[in-house]
Amino acid sequence: EKFHILVTRRIPNAALNILKERCHVEQWDNDDVMPSKQLVEGVKGKDGIFCLLTDKIDANLLDIAGKQLQVVSTMSVGVDHIDLAACKERAIKVGYTPNILTSATAELTVGLLLATSRRIVEGVQAVKEGTWGTWKGLWMCGPTLEDSTVGFFGLGRIGQTVIERLRPFGVKSFIFKTSNKKTKEFEDIIQARGVGFEELLQKSDFLISCCALTPATTHIFNKVAFQKMKSTSIFINIARGGVVQQDDLIEALQKKEIRAAGIDVTTPEPLPVDSPLLKLDNCVVTPHIGSATETTRTNMAVLAANNLINGLNDMEMEAPYML
Ligand code: GLV
Ligand code: GLV
Repeated sequence: EKFHILVTRRIPNAALNILKERCHVEQWDNDDVMPSKQLVEGVKGKDGIFCLLTDKIDANLLDIAGKQLQVVSTMSVGVDHIDLAACKERAIKVGYTPNILTSATAELTVGLLLATSRRIVEGVQAVKEGTWGTWKGLWMCGPTLEDSTVGFFGLGRIGQTVIERLRPFGVKSFIFKTSNKKTKEFEDIIQARGVGFEELLQKSDFLISCCALTPATTHIFNKVAFQKMKSTSIFINIARGGVVQQDDLIEALQKKEIRAAGIDVTTPEPLPVDSPLLKLDNCVVTPHIGSATETTRTNMAVLAANNLINGLNDMEMEAPYML
């Protein structure tokens, strides 16, 4: 007897083939989000769900799915779209895709650091619009990573890899937010210094948000936080839009309370084209493409497929999210 599963999006064939070999697959074969009406219908009677970070998997949906539901496998490292407590209560296993997207996401982070500091997008725009004029001594200048202090809010797999990628740039010091006093060993290994949130805000020339979105991190970057940052600082967010109070970020950028921002995540996604964020020269917005390399996306899909199959067969998942 084969398992019945729902796949909520078009996914790489390598992963779909794994699923189709072992399960009855119902798929939303589309590049757009499965509408909630179809999602609600689709989960009914399924043993497993293969979902994306854009699908809200809440307690209500789990109940609609029914008691046979055993596994929710997401093709993402973030799990904030899944009600984890509700899964735990119902003994539903959750799988996710850590590690394999770390390098890709760290690369994009470096890209955003360079795009914002060296004003690459603004410069390209000027060339296209014909406002370049000539080589000018003071035009399109920005800060440099060399000798700077780069701060991290969240220093997990991705943050630590960003540090490794940035070492050749000659960064002066790496700092990260910690509330834990016993970080000496970790500090020595990673060659970064743990500081409190205030100090992180005050000392960072570049401040990178790469934490998980949880109740504790929701809107942590708000008006008060931006006002404590250097007016020359650059803010990068590759985590989740919800970490930022977005209206406050817009105001901070408009008033030049901070110098610039590079963000791969917004609220909402997609960002409406008339958002004030997109009117700002000092903001670079990318469309949540941190993990978007060809190999990484295929690997994520295959890992999520294997997680689902193993979970359904009561075998150990390669990447179980510990509930
Ligand atoms: C991307 O944001 C992910 O969570 O995988
Ligand atoms: C810049 O192109 C220089 O030659 O300094």
